[in-house]
Amino acid sequence: APSTEEIREVVMPLAGLEGPLLPMLHALQDTYGLIPEGAVPVLADLLNLGRAEVHGVISFYHDFRDHPTGRHVLKICRAEACQSMGGNALAAATLKKLGVDWHGTTADGAVTVEPIYCLGLCACAPAAMLDGRVVGRLDEDRMGKLLAEVRA
Ligand code: FES
Repeated sequence: APSTEEIREVVMPLAGLEGPLLPMLHALQDTYGLIPEGAVPVLADLLNLGRAEVHGVISFYHDFRDHPTGRHVLKICRAEACQSMGGNALAAATLKKLGVDWHGTTADGAVTVEPIYCLGLCACAPAAMLDGRVVGRLDEDRMGKLLAEVRA
């Protein structure tokens, strides 16, 4: 894990911004792939916030994470258009098949599953995004093929 010093080096250049917390969190996540353990007290000190506040912001924004992801990230759309096209059942079946819950990572470290709220692909619902690639008109079969590709 990075030291307090290293964390400070990443975030200090952003200290002059108005509302620096989100940019700082993004910078940390870009640098380390996650929000490192020691970051909360550093940010709290630096910005004069309570640790609970910093924690709250990290957990409010689903894009931030404090644990490592799998090698691939599957984001399944949970917004309305996708729900109305069977997105819930597809999500449930996918989670079950992978043996994980939302935000979980498969035991082989291959895939992390995250919810997302609309990918702008409502016309092709249900939709998901695998490593930044959006895929529409999904069903269990197509989802299975997608996942087989990345787990092979
Ligand atoms: Fe799923 Fe818009 S609701 S892509």
